[in-house]
Amino acid sequence: MRAVITGSTNGIGAVVAERLAREGIDVTLVGRSDQRLSATAERIRSAAPGVEVSTERADLADLDQVRALTERLSAAEPLDIVISNAALVAPLDERDASGLPRTVVANYLAPYVLLRGLAQTLSERRARFVIVGADPVVLEQVPVDVDDLRFEQPERLGPDPELRPFALYAHTKNMDAMLMYALARRLRDTAITVTGAHPGVIGQTGLTDETPGLAEKLHASYGIDTATMPSPDVGADTPAWLATSSEVEGVTETFFVDRHPVPTADHVSDEARCNRLWKRTAQVVGLPAEPAFAGPVGT
Ligand SMILES: NC(=O)c1ccc[n+]([C@@H]2O[C@H](COP(=O)([O-])OP(=O)(O)OC[C@H]3O[C@@H](n4cnc5c(N)ncnc54)[C@H](OP(=O)(O)O)[C@@H]3O)[C@@H](O)[C@H]2O)c1
Repeated sequence: MRAVITGSTNGIGAVVAERLAREGIDVTLVGRSDQRLSATAERIRSAAPGVEVSTERADLADLDQVRALTERLSAAEPLDIVISNAALVAPLDERDASGLPRTVVANYLAPYVLLRGLAQTLSERRARFVIVGADPVVLEQVPVDVDDLRFEQPERLGPDPELRPFALYAHTKNMDAMLMYALARRLRDTAITVTGAHPGVIGQTGLTDETPGLAEKLHASYGIDTATMPSPDVGADTPAWLATSSEVEGVTETFFVDRHPVPTADHVSDEARCNRLWKRTAQVVGLPAEPAFAGPVGT
């Protein structure tokens, strides 16, 4: 078996990759730093001798690099497991060359391009896609404007400028859940399942590192104190379980918290809204609205 895990050089993704490797699954780590990729690969090789550990460097905040990564992975040995885990919280003024916020590109557009592309390559094969999202209860308060991926009016992200980068991050996590539904529905006639997972509120990760002062602001505003939170080991549990457990064989189009299926807000799961976001996203990344995902159901 072979798995790819994005954002596997730190935090939750690094633990997920190691768990899969310990189960005998060959893993491909995706990250943006050669140094962190090789350090993580070395650690996993020592923890799981005999398993193949490879690395792919790609900055997921750069769509050209995401497209190139998708092509490389599509041309390589077929995947059984794809875990979309990478995410960041960037300052609002950090945008790519086309003016899209880096947070939107890395957290949502990158998984859209990568998973959609890999689904086309793998659609005659049995595979599990797992998208790491965030807390569906909190995200009920964050309905996505499905026509606006550019976020050019920061005041729409709330009154406090210091919290807006995190509000944008929250929007992208809801978009990830909507991607989970939209892709799963399009893959119903294939043997690819798509599930989503909230890992829990987890400490000792680097999620807020790119926005100076944000961790302190979250602490002051919401009492979020990363020092007292569960470790990435806990956060890795549900995503790794969704990727490997026989208990969820064939389960698709479902969001999980602590290994339990949970509902998401109506504005997240609504089919018409998911379709509209899917099509708007296709336009933004320059792909046809509806790709052909070949059946029949694979083995
Ligand atoms: N921590 C929490 O409380 C929490 C709560 C809800 C959901 N989540 C979700 O859990 C997932 C993992 O988060 P985490 O807390 O483990 O964060 P983390 O420690 O910052 O790990 C994020 C990973 O993504 C990679 N990454 C970030 N930006 C990237 C880019 N532009 N290109 C390629 N790779 C990139 C990072 O690589 P580098 O090593 O290069 O930085 C790192 O390996 C995310 O999807 C997050 O939204 C976390």
